[in-house]
Amino acid sequence: MNKYRPHGVTPEQVENGQMRTFGNYMKNLALTEAELKGKSILDVGANSANFGDVAARFGASVVSVDASRPEGWQDVLEGESKKLFAVAAENLVLKDRLGLAQESQFDMVLSHYSTPYVLVNDGQDSTGRWKEQKSPEELVRYLYDHSFQSLENIFLHIKAGGKAVVYPLFLDLDSTEAVHVDFGNGEHRNVAQFNSIIHSVLNNLRSKYQDHFDLHLEKVPQAKEGYDLTRLVIMRRPMISNYER
Ligand SMILES: C[S@@+](CC[C@H](N)C(=O)[O-])C[C@H]1O[C@@H](n2cnc3c(N)ncnc32)[C@H](O)[C@@H]1O
Repeated sequence: MNKYRPHGVTPEQVENGQMRTFGNYMKNLALTEAELKGKSILDVGANSANFGDVAARFGASVVSVDASRPEGWQDVLEGESKKLFAVAAENLVLKDRLGLAQESQFDMVLSHYSTPYVLVNDGQDSTGRWKEQKSPEELVRYLYDHSFQSLENIFLHIKAGGKAVVYPLFLDLDSTEAVHVDFGNGEHRNVAQFNSIIHSVLNNLRSKYQDHFDLHLEKVPQAKEGYDLTRLVIMRRPMISNYER
């Protein structure tokens, strides 16, 4: 079993849902416990904030946001694991909800099995057909706009010297695009069209922000051969002081 187990946590605790989510984030986003300590983190598409609750125990200060609001959940505006519901990545403005004068930026911004992955996961039925009743052109525009806006907002919430990690995407680094992705339950989705949209989103973000950010894709091998996934890592360059110019 390749389960991530944080220091001082028993195997029984790993079985607990919160710990399991935390372990998946650490493994899939290639994070270390040491890098959580003292860091500010924004988790985009955090659901009920399982990751943030545990990361706060490891010394991080986390703001978790989600487009929906799990039934009965209220925002949590105090402490080291804050939670804001009904905040979509495409319209990511935190300052008003957090009562701040300026928009916050974070050491790390994370998106785990959320945006833009959910556009495929939620947008297609189990046979891989798009549920949206749109013309092919409208569908491409919709997927492009939602991916661009959410990834741009992720960018803009990274502090100088910080990073964002987005997982999973389906882009294959070997240029043999992984066009069929195993979504579990025997579902094999064709993500070729989505991949080409993500390629153009990343190219356009690269040229728009080339002085500030470095983007790269890392292959994340999966147990089943031929279905590797991809992690997008965005590094925001540190500010250059006047002395170094
Ligand atoms: C599969 S769950 C992943 C939850 C959590 N990140 C995890 O890995 O356990 C996807 C989450 O993304 C949220 N979501 C979907 N679209 C979103 C968007 N545009 N902006 C923010 N959150 C979104 C959903 O409400 C859902 O809670």
